[in-house]
Amino acid sequence: MKIRCFFCIELPEEIKEKIHKWMIFSREEAPDLKWVKGNALHITLKFCGEIQDTQVQNVIKDFGASLLETEICRFRITLSGFGVFPNLRRPRVFWIGVDDGHQALNRLYSLINKSTALEGIAEEKTSFHPHVTVARVRRNSVIPVSFLSNCNDEPLSFGTWEADTITFMQSDLKRQGPVYTPLASFKLA
Ligand code: 2AM
Repeated sequence: MKIRCFFCIELPEEIKEKIHKWMIFSREEAPDLKWVKGNALHITLKFCGEIQDTQVQNVIKDFGASLLETEICRFRITLSGFGVFPNLRRPRVFWIGVDDGHQALNRLYSLINKSTALEGIAEEKTSFHPHVTVARVRRNSVIPVSFLSNCNDEPLSFGTWEADTITFMQSDLKRQGPVYTPLASFKLA
């Protein structure tokens, strides 16, 4: 059986709530975008795609073991800023940025990639840019210029927390949006 899955850092409830409140206003400004549901907000570390359940088990085992061998401890993450991938001329994904925590996130990203590479899961071609996706552009979406200009100068801040858990998440694509189910959680010291 194949499972669509990814590694991520989940956000604390109070930060999701803060972002959700901001999204309610933003959605009014840009209603054509496909907005992420408040409870589905996360920082993706590695998207694995659809892999066999045996690969899922191997990745969990291998990443769990390699995490124990490292000295990556719980670390602070700050969310602030608002941006767009790939750029303002061809917007595809709108995101909230990660300010604090880059070093640990990059180390986790490398560690996860080592475990997934052992199972033949390809590395991303683009460089790792931690973020929280808030909205995606649909085909024919109309995006107001006023909304796009927020990407440059909106001084947003959504708070800081201490991340102590990495989640390996199953993603089932449904018509109402993806349904996420944790497959494994990895605690940081
Ligand atoms: P992103 O939103 O942080 O960009 C779960 O599906 C997560 O995996 C998504 O939130 C997305 O991360 C990432 N993802 C989904 N499909 C992907 C794909 N085809 N390639 C890379 N990352 C993908």
